[in-house]
Amino acid sequence: MKDTGDITDAVRLTAVRKVYGRRDNQVVALDGVTTRFGRGTFTAIMGPSGSGKSTLLQCAAGLDQPTSGSVLIEEQELSEMNETALTKLRRDRIGFVFQAFNLLPVLTVRQNVTLPLRLAGRKPARGRVSTVLDQVGLAQRSNHRPAELSGGQQQRVAIARALVSEPAVIFADEPTGALDTRTARDILALLRHASQAAGQTIVMVTHDPVAASFADRVLFLADGRLAGELDSPTPQSVADRMTHLGAFADDGPLPRLVTSRGGQR
Ligand SMILES: Nc1ncnc2c1ncn2[C@@H]1O[C@H](COP(=O)(O)OP(=O)(O)OP(=O)(O)O)[C@@H](O)[C@H]1O
Ligand SMILES: [Mg+2]
Repeated sequence: MKDTGDITDAVRLTAVRKVYGRRDNQVVALDGVTTRFGRGTFTAIMGPSGSGKSTLLQCAAGLDQPTSGSVLIEEQELSEMNETALTKLRRDRIGFVFQAFNLLPVLTVRQNVTLPLRLAGRKPARGRVSTVLDQVGLAQRSNHRPAELSGGQQQRVAIARALVSEPAVIFADEPTGALDTRTARDILALLRHASQAAGQTIVMVTHDPVAASFADRVLFLADGRLAGELDSPTPQSVADRMTHLGAFADDGPLPRLVTSRGGQR
């Protein structure tokens, strides 16, 4: 069962804005995002390329600093933490699966998976590492190096690395993008299990309506803003909404949104 007895959110974003670049070539990657991720929930984040999904994840995970706005992880305001405290929080409480897998080429699969724990000075339980490698289907590859693996296998190493320390929150940026349908389904079931059985909070970026349907909720981003939300998503309901967002991306902001924001853009 889900840990719904707790009133606190795992992650809360308030008016998060992220502007890249200098004055003459500024990019507004996030334009005032307010949302929350309850403990033990599984949320998918969708939206056109460039809509700010990775930026949202990086800011929410304390890997990047918003230009303004607030990010709370387990009630701790990230902007008020020094680098040491932030590093500790990321190591102890957060798992991250990057869009680029960020594996160290000189380390084996097993070493890559256990690296964050070792950096935190913790010794992984031996059984735990094998269990996770088995769950992602890489038990036979534990002594190989990333260059000896396929793209999808490397992606699964990155997922195992995020799962192994059983962090409170897992942020995953397109974790199944390089996987075949069946392997993807196994990984998604694993993530869903992590939220439902272990009470971990999962925030996953994906372009795939089927992947999103494994989540409890889908957040849609367009142009750096939240553009909708869907509870208990199905592949069909997500696909319908994506079609709408596709038009949104091609034709610029919908008139309705412009007026509701006071004609800001
Ligand atoms: N370091 C950076 N410097 C300048 N602009 C950036 C930087 N990182 C991202 N951007 C811009 O911010 C916007 C949002 O980027 P982001 O990577 O969050 O998009 P995304 O939704 O993850 O896209 P995709 O689906 O292609 O991964 C884009 O316009 C991108 O070009
Ligand atoms: Mg991205």
